[in-house]
Amino acid sequence: MSEIIISVKNISKNFRRYHHPADRLKELLLPGRSYAQEFWALKNISLEIPRGHTLGIVGKNGSGKSTLLQIIAGTLRPTAGEVKVQGKVAALLELGSGFNPEFTGRQNVFFNGRLLGLTQAELESKFEAIWAFSEIGDFIDQPVKTYSSGMFVRLAFAVATSINPDILVVDEALSVGDEAFQRKCYARIQDIQAQGGTVLFVSHSASTITEFCDSAVLLDHGELLLQGSSKLVISQYHNLIYAAATQTESVRQSIRQLNQTASLQNPLELDEDTLTSTQIIESQLEAPSATSAVSQSTHSMGVLKSGEAYIPGLVPKSTIYYDSHGAIIESPGLTTLSGDPVNFLIRRKKYIYTYTVKFNEPATDVCFGMLIKTVSGLSLGGASSHPPLQGIARIEAGTIFKVSFTFQCLLQPGVYFLNAGVHARKNDRYIFLHRLIDAAMFRVQPLSDLCATESVDFLIEPAIEQLEIHLAEAN
Ligand SMILES: Nc1ncnc2c1ncn2[C@@H]1O[C@H](COP(=O)(O)OP(=O)(O)OP(=O)(O)O)[C@@H](O)[C@H]1O
Ligand SMILES: [Mg+2]
Repeated sequence: MSEIIISVKNISKNFRRYHHPADRLKELLLPGRSYAQEFWALKNISLEIPRGHTLGIVGKNGSGKSTLLQIIAGTLRPTAGEVKVQGKVAALLELGSGFNPEFTGRQNVFFNGRLLGLTQAELESKFEAIWAFSEIGDFIDQPVKTYSSGMFVRLAFAVATSINPDILVVDEALSVGDEAFQRKCYARIQDIQAQGGTVLFVSHSASTITEFCDSAVLLDHGELLLQGSSKLVISQYHNLIYAAATQTESVRQSIRQLNQTASLQNPLELDEDTLTSTQIIESQLEAPSATSAVSQSTHSMGVLKSGEAYIPGLVPKSTIYYDSHGAIIESPGLTTLSGDPVNFLIRRKKYIYTYTVKFNEPATDVCFGMLIKTVSGLSLGGASSHPPLQGIARIEAGTIFKVSFTFQCLLQPGVYFLNAGVHARKNDRYIFLHRLIDAAMFRVQPLSDLCATESVDFLIEPAIEQLEIHLAEAN
């Protein structure tokens, strides 16, 4: 493993909290008596991050994510433990830090840049680029307190990343900007990653974490519950937040056990899928071509005449079943147009994704949904059975529906996962009555005559034309 750039050893952070503001005053006036409550925001956290690594940090509100980032960024001191950070850190912490609201944007750029270690001359040469990146126009000469939160973040991000930091710490902040600006920020983060920078990233977005981070940690009430691959950590985080209240403690305990298994290996590499389903997929991949055509059944391997196949072992190991609120999704799977089960697909052909839904309670404004994702969790595309607010008006208890989504397989060879969900209105709120993450998976067959790249097959048609012949060079 490469050099450790951030090392956090047995960090704990204690905050003193008061029930009433007056208690703080009483304590000052009546020394010797304490009105404060001890509160441990971080409990004995240890973490080593190699140079060039991108680490995601997830956890519920109040679990200690920002506290941990502030300690690593050096703006907060731990109550106990040791932090070692090597290199220049640029931190984009929760809104409000770093900028002085009374100063103009321009003054803050210089003020903040000096704090980040830039000289006046360096700042003068970088100022135009920072201003342009922020896209805030004339507001640059207005006091920062007049900025919208989006403008504030744009400028703060532009300044923080202008120093080419060794370590970039981003706390949630990017969710404030609009999508085009977010895209630009992610591109800048990718630049920093490409130059070997180390990135720490707090986000509540599962797809951002799985897409951007090499690994992730899950914090829970100040405890580091799990460290492992982004996908594993996200799936366990979802297990934890969607567990019924009576189950939370046992889910927490099983995650702790998983973490112990992980720490025996390299925790940064632990991944449910690499441990289980990928091995199964790889060992069974050769099988369809080796086996002669057998009759199709859902329980044995079947190769259809067309070359598609159903491989029994090609099933997700990472399925997350959300709590049911009056409906249950069952039997998710793919079939050919003629109804044969299939999970080894041919590129550009049409298939049907189906599942059944049992309603145990009456439901109103019901909609069914699906989503296709890559192995890293990136959402590629999905559909809803009805447009927004136009779902099935009412479904009685005891009803069973079969839901089918026919799609053309415009995907490159590789493995993909499917979600399934039933959405309805309950007490004037739209909620999932039931939802399965990684409900099914499929593999698109490898092909040798392929020019397309990446995940989605846009049916791109390349054309090459020679426009000039260099006679002189030809001779
Ligand atoms: N200065 C402080 N004084 C007292 N308690 C604090 C202080 N800062 C944080 N806390 C408490 O520490 C706990 C962890 O806070 P932290 O801000 O690190 O959580 P978080 O995971 O970043 O949450 P969020 O997702 O809401 O941003 C919370 O319960 C919070 O109330
Ligand atoms: Mg926070």
